[in-house]
Amino acid sequence: KKPAGAPSPELARPVRKVGVVGAGLMAGQLALVFAQRLKVPVVMTDVDQARVDRGLGHVHGQVDTLVAKGKLDAGQGEALKSLVTGSVAKDVYADADLVIEAVFEEMGVKKAVLAEVEAVVTPECILATNTSSLSVTEMASGLEHPERLVGFHFFNPVAVMPLVEIVRGPATTDPVLATAFATARGLGKTAVLVQDAAAFVVNRILLRMMGEVQNSFDQGTDAAVADHALDPMALPMTPFTLLSMVGVPVAQHVTESLNAAFGDERFPVSANLQSLIDADIPSLWAQKGEDQDHGREVIPAGT
Ligand code: 3HC
Repeated sequence: KKPAGAPSPELARPVRKVGVVGAGLMAGQLALVFAQRLKVPVVMTDVDQARVDRGLGHVHGQVDTLVAKGKLDAGQGEALKSLVTGSVAKDVYADADLVIEAVFEEMGVKKAVLAEVEAVVTPECILATNTSSLSVTEMASGLEHPERLVGFHFFNPVAVMPLVEIVRGPATTDPVLATAFATARGLGKTAVLVQDAAAFVVNRILLRMMGEVQNSFDQGTDAAVADHALDPMALPMTPFTLLSMVGVPVAQHVTESLNAAFGDERFPVSANLQSLIDADIPSLWAQKGEDQDHGREVIPAGT
């Protein structure tokens, strides 16, 4: 079934080579998943060779883990590693069909790299941004051909999380959007078209949840009680654990975008957040092994 708002799949263009701008955490995860699932060459770039090497090292480490777990055999592991290359020169994108930027979550940086990439790619090349909260409309305004830009919002860890939000910019053409949906399908993701509104849909909900856990803690609720209150909802991890996985700086950037967009108090940044994460509170709780009920009286179901 075609996702709501998605153009006809026949309009999708082939994606035979992918560029990833950035070699950080999300970029490395994206490079791996694109190479693994689409089985196409992926080239990552970053501002210096040390960052590129670190990114490639991360990708190789992930592949080694998959081989060690028996998810890939040694030959498949080597083939996958060889699909992912790195460079400091943007002209490696000259023959790419799709280039996705996954650099620092800051509008100025994203606009600058997209303009740099646009200068070296073919007219047909699709540009994509991986952003958790920033306006695709604003990013498109810096491009010579805004019609080729589309937004993706992948979730961490990219290989495991099944959802991707797709954002249509003000000028995004149907073939570009159709290619975005086809790419998501090729990656094995469920794609949903969301409005180009601050933090789209998922992060507005998620940040609200994480913010309220912090609020409760700041207002005196025991940290473990606040963090574990949702356990019976069977979330895969507690809000503080999720925050430490997403990273406090990323969470703060998303929160700041939401504050700027809505100008209200719905999305607070807790002063205590960083210290809780620094103290590695979630893992301390996990290790303690005591008070597993986190302040709740657990009554067996059906009594
Ligand atoms: N190819 C094939 N398999 C892979 C793979 C790959 N590239 N990468 C990982 N896997 C496999 C692993 O080998 C593992 O397999 P196994 O179960 O057979 O051992 C399986 O996928 C799960 O991977 P992990 O072992 O790494 O993960 P866990 O099982 O420990 O689960 C978790 C951890 C997936 C993180 C789970 O706790 C979870 O779903 N947490 C919630 C995550 C979440 O909410 N993320 C969203 C964050 S918000 C965000 O990103 C938005 C941003 O904008 C802020």
